[in-house]
Amino acid sequence: MKIAILPGDGIGPEIVAEAVKVLEVLRRDGLPVVTEVAPIGGAGYDAAKRPLPEATLRLAQAADAVLMGAVGGPRYDALPRELRPEQGILGIRKALGLFANLRPAILYPELAAASTLKPEVVAGLDLMIVRELTGDIYFGQPRGRRTNARGEEEGFDTMLYSVPEIERIARVGFETARARGRRLCSVDKANVLDTSILWRETVSRVAADYPDVALSHMYVDNAAMQLVRNPKQFDVIVTGNIFGDILSDEASMLAGSIGMLPSASLDASAKGLYEPIHGSAPDIAGQGKANPLATILSLAMMFRYTFRDGATAARIETAVRGVLRQGLRTADIALPGEPVVGTSRMGDAVVAALQQA
Ligand code: IPM
Ligand code: MG
Repeated sequence: MKIAILPGDGIGPEIVAEAVKVLEVLRRDGLPVVTEVAPIGGAGYDAAKRPLPEATLRLAQAADAVLMGAVGGPRYDALPRELRPEQGILGIRKALGLFANLRPAILYPELAAASTLKPEVVAGLDLMIVRELTGDIYFGQPRGRRTNARGEEEGFDTMLYSVPEIERIARVGFETARARGRRLCSVDKANVLDTSILWRETVSRVAADYPDVALSHMYVDNAAMQLVRNPKQFDVIVTGNIFGDILSDEASMLAGSIGMLPSASLDASAKGLYEPIHGSAPDIAGQGKANPLATILSLAMMFRYTFRDGATAARIETAVRGVLRQGLRTADIALPGEPVVGTSRMGDAVVAALQQA
């Protein structure tokens, strides 16, 4: 189990350190885990003048799986777009062909009160967003800036999907739904965008291969509204890169905090990059306040999807639930007045719970 560890920037190194503690327990228990660390994002820029250094990409390519923290920070905001930390993560997704991004939003019953939504709206929530990750307006060409005929400066990006790209992510959506509640909602903007009309046609055609899965379609604006109105209507959502980016942040708040949401980004053979869906939180970086649970839960996803070791995944998830049940809370999931613990206390508690399991 060769795992490349890319801590990144901001709170990235702090939260990844807690996940590494979990890996060490698993190694002591006999799993053949080998890790190597490399810089990405702003750290990559500092080390090698680029957000995705050559050596980091080579390490990730040679690994079975990648664990990432987060990238970005105010120090790098003034860099030109191609040198910004975000290009590190976008570049590695593209270079490794990680087209399928799984973002589960699960509300642990212990955190029902931490959500900003009423407990009865979110209690029992368990939805999965399947986000396409290597296409769409993130990567479409042409893009750039130009001066138009009136002498005005313009910026432009291209939303673009090919039929094979839509088909392969649709299949991941259907397969994911098949293994869960057998309901798939495809989210698009087919009332306005040509890309979305093709998306909807293609997903509908792929549906013929999955007669056991109930497919529905929803416009993205309505989906954004339905997610806060009645999120439990969803089982699996499949959508494009930009809509999935936005809807997964929205869904994270249903689960109490963005600090709780892990993700898996998979290629066609389930090699994967695993990362929390939250960012580098420069405002709290270096203070030991960040919630490491999304990163630890990302590690659980790594065992489930890449190493096909559901027992270890469940063991990690059970340990996380255990610490929540014990009442441990980082600031992001604490109720007003509740005592809070820091990043490493939370990680240590997960390690202790693991050792008991
Ligand atoms: C995410 C992030 C990234 C994205 C950024 C950091 C490039 O928001 O993983 O959701 O937009 O995909
Ligand atoms: Mg995002």
